[in-house]
Amino acid sequence: MNRFSGCISVITGAGSGIGKAAAIRLAQEGSKVILVGRTREKLMNVADEIHQSAPESAGVYVADVTDEHDVTVLAQYVKSTYGDLHVLINNAGGSFYSSVSHLPAEEWDQVFALNLRSVFLVSKLLGHVMISAASREDSNQRKDRAIVNVASLSGHKPGARIPHYSASKAAVINFTKALAGEYAPYGIRVNSVSPGFVETPLTEKGLQNDSFVEAIKRHTALKRVGRPDEIANVIAFLASQESSYMTGSDVLVDGGWLIT
Ligand SMILES: NC(=O)c1ccc[n+]([C@@H]2O[C@H](COP(=O)([O-])OP(=O)(O)OC[C@H]3O[C@@H](n4cnc5c(N)ncnc54)[C@H](OP(=O)(O)O)[C@@H]3O)[C@@H](O)[C@H]2O)c1
Repeated sequence: MNRFSGCISVITGAGSGIGKAAAIRLAQEGSKVILVGRTREKLMNVADEIHQSAPESAGVYVADVTDEHDVTVLAQYVKSTYGDLHVLINNAGGSFYSSVSHLPAEEWDQVFALNLRSVFLVSKLLGHVMISAASREDSNQRKDRAIVNVASLSGHKPGARIPHYSASKAAVINFTKALAGEYAPYGIRVNSVSPGFVETPLTEKGLQNDSFVEAIKRHTALKRVGRPDEIANVIAFLASQESSYMTGSDVLVDGGWLIT
């Protein structure tokens, strides 16, 4: 399949895990991908891996997506270099464990900044690039443009000792719907994907604990942890024209956690 020929895509948090898998997938299917994250070395490694099968299709851009200035300059860079943006994957996110009782307010704010403020800032500022390109086109011949926000199973059902993360991901699912309504007149579709447990650097430590892994298997209908490429497949579907009649939806990819 070559669903992203001629597309320009931005993927945040592209240096590892789900973001890396999504970037590889989009590039394999013809997109130019702009890999965004805070650590240049990780992004360069992903770009090198992509270039083995898709030469010159990956660019690296170092930015903290919680920082308004960084995201403003990223948007200027995308506009001046490419003049358009077809796909935006808001994937950067993460958390740490805490109970509500022991959670300092500053750490609550940090987790909300990483998971929610980032999605707002990037969708707003890179959204301007998408909207201005869409506004130059005849509305009958508009290119498909899509934003995919990476939410979480925890946004549907709060996870143990991640109240801040769970609440921020629930907000991402709701914000996705608000954004979908606002951007629909420009032909920009906005959906979210909610992964269950996936083997990435974010879950690496927990997955080294056998009883934790056993508990995940017990609670998951498919009896296993997910792989990043299994989430990337769904992200690519939501980013592609195959989902052309979908906007404001959340797709749960949890191996059947919520049905057990
Ligand atoms: N793994 C799971 O089980 C799971 C389940 C549900 C949802 N998710 C969601 O999936 C997304 C990807 O997570 P993952 O599991 O793939 O974890 P990951 O490997 O830790 O990926 C997160 C990436 O985001 C980047 N990042 C973090 N803070 C950033 C910032 N302020 N600005 C720019 N980039 C930043 C990190 O790179 P730098 O530190 O170098 O910037 C990292 O490469 C997250 O939104 C996560 O909440 C994961």
